[in-house]
Amino acid sequence: MIDLLLRNARLAGHDALTDIAVADGVIVPGTPAGTVPPAGGVAEVIDLGGRLVTPPLVEPHIHLDAVLTVGQPRPNISGSLFEGIAVWAERVRDLTYSDVQSRVRQVLRWQLTCGVQHVRSHVDVCDPQLTALRALADLREEVRGLIDLQLVAFPQQGILGFDGGKELMRKAVELGADVIGGIPHYELTREDGVESVRFALALADEHGLRVDIHCDETDDDHSRFVEVLAAETIRRGMSGRVTASHTTAMHSYNGAYAYRLIRNIARAGLHMVTNPLDNSVLQGRFDTGPVRRGHTRVKELQAAGINVCIGHDSVMDPWYPLGYGDPLQAAFVLVHYGQMSGDRELRRLIEMITVNPAAALGVPGYGLREGGPADLVVFDAPSEADALRLIAPRTLVLRGGRIVARSTPAQHIVTWQGTEEPVTFLRA
Ligand code: FE2
Repeated sequence: MIDLLLRNARLAGHDALTDIAVADGVIVPGTPAGTVPPAGGVAEVIDLGGRLVTPPLVEPHIHLDAVLTVGQPRPNISGSLFEGIAVWAERVRDLTYSDVQSRVRQVLRWQLTCGVQHVRSHVDVCDPQLTALRALADLREEVRGLIDLQLVAFPQQGILGFDGGKELMRKAVELGADVIGGIPHYELTREDGVESVRFALALADEHGLRVDIHCDETDDDHSRFVEVLAAETIRRGMSGRVTASHTTAMHSYNGAYAYRLIRNIARAGLHMVTNPLDNSVLQGRFDTGPVRRGHTRVKELQAAGINVCIGHDSVMDPWYPLGYGDPLQAAFVLVHYGQMSGDRELRRLIEMITVNPAAALGVPGYGLREGGPADLVVFDAPSEADALRLIAPRTLVLRGGRIVARSTPAQHIVTWQGTEEPVTFLRA
């Protein structure tokens, strides 16, 4: 018995249409597109009409504890990263368990509606009460089976630069943090930054956890902690378990240094996450010209075979006042200032919000294949390029074969030479 038959799907990376059959939450061998299903054997049939289908979107980098706090307790007047950190430090003092949970529940709903089923969230642990971490650890259980949540112990004010920072990191592990974070470029000195990276990897190594460091999120070309992260990863044999996030200083490095660094990143097997939404507005603020736009060397890293992912980073918080958690918006931004408009590059951008972050997070059994979980996302667009161009609504989101989100795309009508007619934004 087939529970659900999705007709005429266009799988990402393929041109031919296919049918996807689901039974007991698993993808079973389907019938070729357009053929009649076995009589009486299918409970529900949905014709996708050639729409793009991908495995679940994966959000590798977001700060859920800060979502929807924009303007609280005061607005970020300059819009700068540093004023954002100062505003957030004030807001952290007012955090309550229910305040965190109610804000995050709303954004998790938005994310699921966009097709996101795996989320890695940084959680500020520079709070002696660890309120946000406790609230999110409980929420992680509440949404299990719908959204898989990984929590990063993230020391927003530094590990050495914050009173009791190391102890709070250890306590975060006891409370169930999945990943160890860091912010070496924000520590008081270069030496403290190096020590913070070493501390983070040692702590993760001791507990068998992954690492995800906010690394070199600055325009300063002397901020060079990715090299320390790569070296420590090589020394400890932690290849594949370590991610470097933001790494915007890489846009300021000289070419010779970047060349050596990228070779070491590849050797260390680091995953890289670029966050186009926040960093396009936060970086380059000290420039009079040319103005930098806050992304790492995405194309050079990819040319070296390194796994690069796109993160959303913020949703309506002191650093970025916009967003509703849709990874496709972030990918759309990267098309433009990453100059990734080539045909192959448009397809790669979809990989950067699906398979690439799934590898960074270590999502087990990820991907669309026969015998695999029926977790998938249908875009109201026939191709990767159209999905990006239209920031296409997700018409259907399946988790374990169940429909967990649906969208009815907007109807557009134009009156053209006296006659009303429907409009689609697809090429005729
Ligand atoms: Fe971040």
